[in-house]
Parts: sequence; C-alpha cells; structure tokens
Amino acid sequence: MSDSLVVHDGVDESKRTWVAITCGAGAIAGVATAIPFVSTFAPSERAKAAGAPVEVDIADIKVGEKKTVEWRGQPVWILRRSPEMIASLAKDEDELADPQSKRNPGEQTPEYALNRNRSIKPEVLVVVGICTHLGCSPGDKFTAGAQPSLPADWPGGWLCPCHGSTFDLAGRVFKNKPAPDNLRVPPHMYMSETKLLIGEDKKA
Ligand code: FES
Repeated sequence: MSDSLVVHDGVDESKRTWVAITCGAGAIAGVATAIPFVSTFAPSERAKAAGAPVEVDIADIKVGEKKTVEWRGQPVWILRRSPEMIASLAKDEDELADPQSKRNPGEQTPEYALNRNRSIKPEVLVVVGICTHLGCSPGDKFTAGAQPSLPADWPGGWLCPCHGSTFDLAGRVFKNKPAPDNLRVPPHMYMSETKLLIGEDKKA
C-alpha cells in the first residue's frame, strides 16, 4: 500500500519517554521545528503528521513480548500473548470496570475487537499505549503474581505510574482506578499472516 508507512522498529526497541512526549507540548513543538532540516526524515514525518496508516511486520514478536510502533504521534503496542496470558483474561473480569468494553465502544474498541481478548486474533493484542486518565504511558507488568504497587492476585498487564491505574493483558482497566476507560484499540487489519496495518481497517 503506497500511502502507508513501513515500520522497522525492533521488539519494544523504543524505550522512548512517551510520558515526556505526550505531556510536553514544548517537546513536540521542538521536534516539529527541527524536522524540516533533516531532509531524509521529512517524508516519513510528513506522512505521520497526516495520520497515514502504519504497516508493521509482527513476525519477530516472540510469545510474551511487545513491539511498540508510532501512529499519529502515539505509541501503539502489539503484544503477542501466550496461552497462559489469554487464559488469564477469563479470570479477572469481576475486578474490571468494563470487561465487555461497553463504554464508548465506537471510540475505544472497534466492533471486531468487542470480545474478551479485545483483538482480532486471540494471541495478538493491539492497543494505544496511553492511559485514558491523563495521558501517561503505563509500564509493562506482564509477570503475574504479587509485586510492588500491585495486588497479590495480579494477572499481568500494565501499571500507569502517574496515578496508579492498572490494565489487564487486554488493556481493560481495573475497577476503582482513575482511568475511566479501557486502553484504546486503534483501527487495524491484517494484510497477511505477519503484516498488520495500524490506522485503517477497511479493505480498499
Ligand atoms: S494518567 Fe494514568 S492514572 Fe493518571
């Protein structure tokens, strides 16, 4: 597809400080100002600014690992869940604020992700990595079990460092947390078994 971006990011390669980017308008302005002087990056950055879909090869994401790509200036996480991770999603629903993703379904969850896994394929989760409270980027807490700042029956998921919102491995927010919604599932579709298109979900 000619108007999409091909992403070559490594697995979770960018430990970028998305918090700083999302919370720092000045930083964004600074980057935008610098880009025109870096001619080789200019087309890519222009396409990003225009919201072009992003093409992602997911073949290199190992089970239990996450890749981060950028779409419309936001981090999008692609997590390849293990069978154990998928099984955990059926066990934590009593503790979730919106287990069926009924809140703002059109905005937060496309129709094809309105299921327990919040995904097209059970093993591949695609979510925007920005907390629905005030826009911080939650940290990976994929290991189940007791650990600092998390409950003893933690099933694995994400912890937002700003005000403590927690999300399970489908990006569903736990009850009684400041975040009002589940993490957003962006529009996406499979171009092949191993190629995802983020930002578009209709075949031409
Ligand atoms: S921004 Fe995530 S809990 Fe406040």
